[in-house]
Amino acid sequence: MKTLILGSGAREHAIAWAFAQSRTNSGLFCLPGNAATAELGTNLHGDPENIAAVLKATQYTGSKLVIVGPEAPLAAGVADSLREAGLAVFGPGKEAAKLEASKSFARALTDRAGIPSAATKQFIAFNDFAAWLPGKEGNKLVLKKSGLAAGKGVFESADPNELKAFAKKVLQSDTVLVEEFLEGYELSVFALCDGEDYILMPACADHKKSGEGNQGQNTGGMGAICPVPCSDPDLMRRIESIIIEPTFRMLWQEGLLYRGVLFFGIMVTASGPKLLEFNVRFGDPETQSLLPLLASDAIDLFWTVSTGRVRELQLEYRPLTAVGITLAAPGYPGAYPAHIPVQALPASSANALLFHASTLRDAEGQLRTGGGRCFSAVGLGQDYFQAHSRALKLAEAVHFEGVWFRHDIGRAFCKDS
Ligand code: AMP
Ligand code: GLY
Repeated sequence: MKTLILGSGAREHAIAWAFAQSRTNSGLFCLPGNAATAELGTNLHGDPENIAAVLKATQYTGSKLVIVGPEAPLAAGVADSLREAGLAVFGPGKEAAKLEASKSFARALTDRAGIPSAATKQFIAFNDFAAWLPGKEGNKLVLKKSGLAAGKGVFESADPNELKAFAKKVLQSDTVLVEEFLEGYELSVFALCDGEDYILMPACADHKKSGEGNQGQNTGGMGAICPVPCSDPDLMRRIESIIIEPTFRMLWQEGLLYRGVLFFGIMVTASGPKLLEFNVRFGDPETQSLLPLLASDAIDLFWTVSTGRVRELQLEYRPLTAVGITLAAPGYPGAYPAHIPVQALPASSANALLFHASTLRDAEGQLRTGGGRCFSAVGLGQDYFQAHSRALKLAEAVHFEGVWFRHDIGRAFCKDS
């Protein structure tokens, strides 16, 4: 089968890598892809949010299945247009994509469904926010931009001046949500669904903070572990019964057809699991740790979901642990230099996989970084320690000026294992 993957990140490279090994792969196309996906298939020029360009790419390549990696094309309605053209698409339509593209929309749905989450207030006017804030000092609050923000829409602080500055910026163009700060640990749970049935994949844990020990600023994700040792069956059953089932029930009741993967960002607190957010696509960096564990055929999986046959899925996983480390550009998550030459690039092996994020080759063939998060180094092992040391060894062998990464991905989950 010929397939088209939209996006250019390490998540899309991991999907392409899994597809390249599928027994049904007969042509792999990425729009726009990166320097590594060019070696697994064919990269196509174009903007994945441009519906006409994506439709043309499917016609030109003869692709029957389209995987939408990032959220922006889903929010732009790309999946709806592709479905209207008769293609199988992995990813929800524009209306359901509001679960990620509008936190206000998502919040209203979870409140109607009675799903446990942080106490929230919403503001559309700065004066109302400024009038509400006094008396809340000393407590850390979380401010969120309602719309898409490419991982930069969340701000935590206990300082009223900082909170006001962030709220003022957001309120120029969007609604701001204010949440109580939840203490706990985070899980990313992925549900493959087709509008009628769903199936859960092994839980992952992303590491959102820039610094060791979960200190520092929020990022898009500095690494992930899968599976998570503490996501035992009891906890997963509880998450399913109080968060996941009520969400799908509500989607069905409200007639929102959801086909693709629904990502539940969960905080496990002392008083139980609470929903932090929905995403309408696979996580990055979680996918880079999740897909290498999949023993089942990856194209079969995406095709079965996209053609509405989730009920038939019987997924198998390798009994290993995967630890992925994000290699970032200097300055990330703030401003960072673009297109840094990559001086050393280790080869991947069976137990150590290097996924590229938005890398490119210049006219001289020099490999260059593309964004703030540049690579994911993923180690696979019999246990956390083996997986982590393989990931670290791979990460340490990548050289470009200013490269940095966290050395403690997964450690907090595995002290006793
Ligand atoms: P979101 O886009 O809502 O997932 O937020 C991004 C990240 O901010 C999450 O993965 C958490 O690390 C953090 N975060 C969001 N909401 C809260 C909250 N209410 N309490 C604590 N941390 C939060
Ligand atoms: N890992 C979090 C995200 O993909 O949004």
